[in-house]
Amino acid sequence: MKHLLKLSDLSSEEIMSILNLADQLKYERKNHIAHRHLQGKQLGMIFTKSSTRTRVSFEVGMNELGGNALFLSGNDLQLGRGEPIKDTVRVLSRYLDGIMIRTFKQSDVEELAEYGSIPVINGLTDYCHPCQVLADLMTVREYKGSFKGLKLCFIGDGNNMANSLIVGGIKMGMEVAVACPEGYRPDADICAWAEKEGKLLVTDDIAAAAAGADVVYTDVWASMGQEGEKAVREKAFRGYCVDAAVMACAKPDAMVLHCLPAHRGEEITEEVFEAHAGEIFDEAENRLHAQKAVLVKLLK
Ligand code: CP
Ligand code: NVA
Repeated sequence: MKHLLKLSDLSSEEIMSILNLADQLKYERKNHIAHRHLQGKQLGMIFTKSSTRTRVSFEVGMNELGGNALFLSGNDLQLGRGEPIKDTVRVLSRYLDGIMIRTFKQSDVEELAEYGSIPVINGLTDYCHPCQVLADLMTVREYKGSFKGLKLCFIGDGNNMANSLIVGGIKMGMEVAVACPEGYRPDADICAWAEKEGKLLVTDDIAAAAAGADVVYTDVWASMGQEGEKAVREKAFRGYCVDAAVMACAKPDAMVLHCLPAHRGEEITEEVFEAHAGEIFDEAENRLHAQKAVLVKLLK
């Protein structure tokens, strides 16, 4: 494993190994056992979109591992004034030990990896969000013990989260069901791969997707960069809401996950969100542990 560009680049064994290390690092942190595996290492974090969890968890994670993280706003870098990615990364490779980037185009992340000589971590693109899904898988295993026989259901936009959850869920052997309106389906190539590899249902029937689910997942109707489509999307996604009716279709002990930020009254009701806040904020915490595991795997 040289980079984390998308989950489909990792084998099931590699994902499992990250999750195991994440559990260990969580245990060590809780018990004040030193785990400074990245003493003196420098991580550059390029952001061309907003972030709370990704930014803070990567920065704290690097510090706890004995290294350092630099926040690099896309607007402040010469990148924002047109310096090519392939030049930027060849310069940054001379200073840094790794780069985490959150941006729009997946191809920009791939280009960083191609021209740089240091590990690149995808901190979210329009296409996928691998770091989030590693934390999600870690949380599912924490609550359910294993992935065996589980059904993961995603309700809402077939966006970056849906794409990565399909890949991660199928690679861990879960059955995956996605409920989304026509025209907002997940990436066609990912769906084709998943149907071949495991059990995937993509439907506009919310009840069918949620039926017997062990994990119910949702995300915003309009992602970062889609603010201009807000009104159109509000109409298209009306009803694609994790509410009491959806939860009644899922297993009685189903957990609810949300990558956050959440829009109550849109993709999830206040009641369902608060009833499952324990899981949702454990999931947010697990960003820290899962990403520390990725950093150790790539930078040590
Ligand atoms: N879930 C997630 O990636 O959160 P941020 O946008 O706050 O980083
Ligand atoms: N789909 C959301 C995820 C945020 C973590 C977005 O891209 O804005």
